[in-house]
Amino acid sequence: MTQEPVLVVDRLTTQMMFGRVLCKIVEDISFKLYPGKTLALVGESGCGKTITALSIMRIIPTPPALPSQGQIFFKGKDLLKLSESEMRKIRGARIAMIFQDPISALNPVFTVGNQLIEVAELHLKIYGDEAIERAVKILDEVGIIAPRECLSAYPHQLSGGMKQRVMIAMALMCEPDILIADEPTTALDVTIQAQILALIKELQTRMNMAVLLITHDMDVVGEVADEVIVMYASQVMERGSSKQVFTTMSHPYTLGLFQSRPTLNTPRGKLKAIPGTVPHPTNYPEGCRFHPRCPFMMPKCKHGNVPDFEIHHEKSHKSKCWLYDESEESRLKLLQRNRND
Ligand SMILES: Nc1ncnc2c1ncn2[C@@H]1O[C@H](COP(=O)(O)OP(=O)(O)O)[C@@H](O)[C@H]1O
Ligand code: SF4
Ligand SMILES: [Mg+2]
Repeated sequence: MTQEPVLVVDRLTTQMMFGRVLCKIVEDISFKLYPGKTLALVGESGCGKTITALSIMRIIPTPPALPSQGQIFFKGKDLLKLSESEMRKIRGARIAMIFQDPISALNPVFTVGNQLIEVAELHLKIYGDEAIERAVKILDEVGIIAPRECLSAYPHQLSGGMKQRVMIAMALMCEPDILIADEPTTALDVTIQAQILALIKELQTRMNMAVLLITHDMDVVGEVADEVIVMYASQVMERGSSKQVFTTMSHPYTLGLFQSRPTLNTPRGKLKAIPGTVPHPTNYPEGCRFHPRCPFMMPKCKHGNVPDFEIHHEKSHKSKCWLYDESEESRLKLLQRNRND
């Protein structure tokens, strides 16, 4: 039985003013989130991942950004058409977000208890002892050892991993339908990182939550994602199931991300970093936006729009890359690529 998606993002585009230039910082991105499933949005820094998340939450800074275009259906309602007061009932309660830096989500001048109780009052309409008990319960669920004592702590008194757990507790207090996790473990050391990912997974399963996980880390993607969207320079470069994307790495950018990841067997010095850097939105190249960095670049890559090609005739797996147009030139390039792998 296929489940209904809980969120349908359809051709989401967000533009921003840079001086006098208006640029698309998220361009035509579409995806669906399903209960209990994880979609990973992956790409280097500056590709538009966070702006995609903030656009869904409707918390992009306007200006310099403009209100997003496209459609975002949540339970049959287009979020982009809701009034701010209707959106406020959904934000934080039905769609919650956690960030790389918990300090940005936690208020330094209030205790953990104050902040959790405020969420309980605002969204759950529970007060007093009932709100306190609810806060204790959620802190316990995210693995805080002494939850009652933690209520009276200020954020700066907690370790990095604890702060992250408190932020997750705040996000999950209302048992949201969707959790957006933006680089939730990037600032943490490897052991804590694994614990936090396992915690998110466990709570996700129990609450049947959809998770949109934003990361630049291919190893994290491989561990937790059901589906993957690879983003570069505001656009989707490759999309598919985790298995499809990992077994083929059809897009040269996906391959680059994969080869540049540090693993236990590749000492840092031996990493094949992708040459060059992510261009700024005011400076996107013509043609394929990845062409100046791509080892398989062909003359046709330098001009015009690149279509999304199906990979292995599977509709669910697409790559924005001329290597898959089945021309003679592309076939030769692909052969060369496979030999070098
Ligand atoms: N508040 C802002 N002011 C100016 N530029 C911004 C702002 N937020 C994001 N950008 C720009 O928008 C683009 C996308 O950013 P972002 O979504 O944060 O990337 P990612 O999360 O993939 O690292 C980048 O070029 C970034 O510099
Ligand atoms: S379209 Fe061309 S430049 Fe772009 S990723 Fe594919 S081969 Fe490389
Ligand atoms: Mg980001």
